[in-house]
Amino acid sequence: MNMALLTTPRLHLRPLDAGDRALHRSLYTDPVVMREIASPLTASASDRAFDAVLARVGGDAPRYHYWVVEIRAAGGEAIGIIALHRHDDGAEIGVMLDARHHRSGIAREAFEVLVPYALDNLDLSFIDAERADDGHARAIDGLLLPLGFRAQAAPTSGRRRWRRDRTAGRAAVGSSPRED
Ligand SMILES: CC(C)(COP(=O)(O)OP(=O)(O)OC[C@H]1O[C@@H](n2cnc3c(N)ncnc32)[C@H](O)[C@@H]1OP(=O)(O)O)[C@@H](O)C(=O)NCCC(=O)NCCS
Repeated sequence: MNMALLTTPRLHLRPLDAGDRALHRSLYTDPVVMREIASPLTASASDRAFDAVLARVGGDAPRYHYWVVEIRAAGGEAIGIIALHRHDDGAEIGVMLDARHHRSGIAREAFEVLVPYALDNLDLSFIDAERADDGHARAIDGLLLPLGFRAQAAPTSGRRRWRRDRTAGRAAVGSSPRED
């Protein structure tokens, strides 16, 4: 299945490939980037995880899709990874950005293009996201609400799940958030 190169004013989003091992390592071994996710990986554990990532991509019906976030003005410097993991007839989204680029609207700019693209072109009925009630709760909620994600019942207390349905359509983007 082909994944398009996506362009925003500041970014290119391109499919991850075998040349992205160092980017993957820089993200997964950084204690700041990993703070709300898990303990940082060692370099060798990150490399093993990257091998597993590479084994998942490609093919006719991949269950995982990965995009690399590049800064256009920096000559295409790679600063993050966005992942979509298919489940049921939708997918779960996750994002990790280099800490030097946090809080400058990069995730928002990327999601504004990637979420509609994925819903329209990857045969997904919905995109889900989940977060803990932790230090990134405000960031994740601030990212997802304006993009038309709606809060769902979370499976465990202390967490929150979000869903953006394809049928919500583009009219949902920018509308007032509603919670179930
Ligand atoms: C979470 C993360 C993806 C956010 O990306 P970002 O590019 O910094 O986010 P943006 O600048 O696009 O901001 C999106 C919204 O979140 C808010 N926000 C971002 N970081 C925040 C923070 N640390 N605290 C409070 N709000 C924050 C922004 O203000 C904005 O909301 P607003 O427009 O209402 O103000 C980024 O911090 C990151 O990669 N963190 C490490 C990995 C991680 O924890 N990923 C999430 C789990 S998969």
